[in-house]
Amino acid sequence: MKNTIVLKKVSLSIDRKSILKDISFIVMPNKPMCILGRGSSGKSSLLKTIIGILKPNSGHITINGVSTTDPEISEIYKRFGVVFQKDALFDSLSVWENVMFRSLDKKPKKKLLKRTFEILKLVGLEKNDAFLFPNQLSGGMRKRVAIARAISHKPEFLILDEPTAGLDPIKTNMIFKIIKKLSTSLNTTLIVVTSDMKSVMKYFKETVVLEDSQVYWKGDVCDLSSKKSKYLKNLFGNLIN
Ligand SMILES: Nc1ncnc2c1ncn2[C@@H]1O[C@H](COP(=O)(O)OP(=O)(O)O)[C@@H](O)[C@H]1O
Ligand SMILES: [Mg+2]
Repeated sequence: MKNTIVLKKVSLSIDRKSILKDISFIVMPNKPMCILGRGSSGKSSLLKTIIGILKPNSGHITINGVSTTDPEISEIYKRFGVVFQKDALFDSLSVWENVMFRSLDKKPKKKLLKRTFEILKLVGLEKNDAFLFPNQLSGGMRKRVAIARAISHKPEFLILDEPTAGLDPIKTNMIFKIIKKLSTSLNTTLIVVTSDMKSVMKYFKETVVLEDSQVYWKGDVCDLSSKKSKYLKNLFGNLIN
């Protein structure tokens, strides 16, 4: 199926330490998936395995029906946009150079700037911000630049690791709004790791909860409230009853 990510019994261990155990789920376009779980449950490792940075020891991942072990996968990965947990902006490059870094030596500056302005607008930044450097940006602006960079090539897949960590509730809501809007307008297959339960309830449906390297629960976020598990209650606090 087009732009679908399928994980079947994916397991990963590093230095004999089990990091992912038997993870299976499917992500489809227009069904944004959110991955939840406490620290060290394996969320970032799971994303890195999906994007091919880590190789599973067993099980398999297919994207658009192509196995991640197939050389053809590199073409598919070009259509991915990724925001890592740390935004990893290039400090010596200005905002516009960060956003357009894939095309810096391929197109004239004028064209790149024009495209940058369009993208900055999408993430709620202004033209003038294009000429700032990362150390001149607030936390929320950095995150938005990182998202702008991830979407500059109109990716068909968008993978975001804690895109709002450390931001206040207003900026968090703003970023989730942007992400949701983008995934709809670009028809992207979207996976987001987050601990912001309010946004999860508001913006997502499909959910996978990881605990101790395994899928603890998966399903519709609305059904979380009917789960009486103490663990989920702790995770979601008073947002479920
Ligand atoms: N490259 C690595 N080498 C060894 N252990 C790792 C590596 N990456 C992650 N881990 C371990 O895997 C576990 C899950 O980490 P991570 O995926 O970052 O969790 P989360 O994102 O849920 O906080 C942690 O115990 C972490 O120490
Ligand atoms: Mg993480």
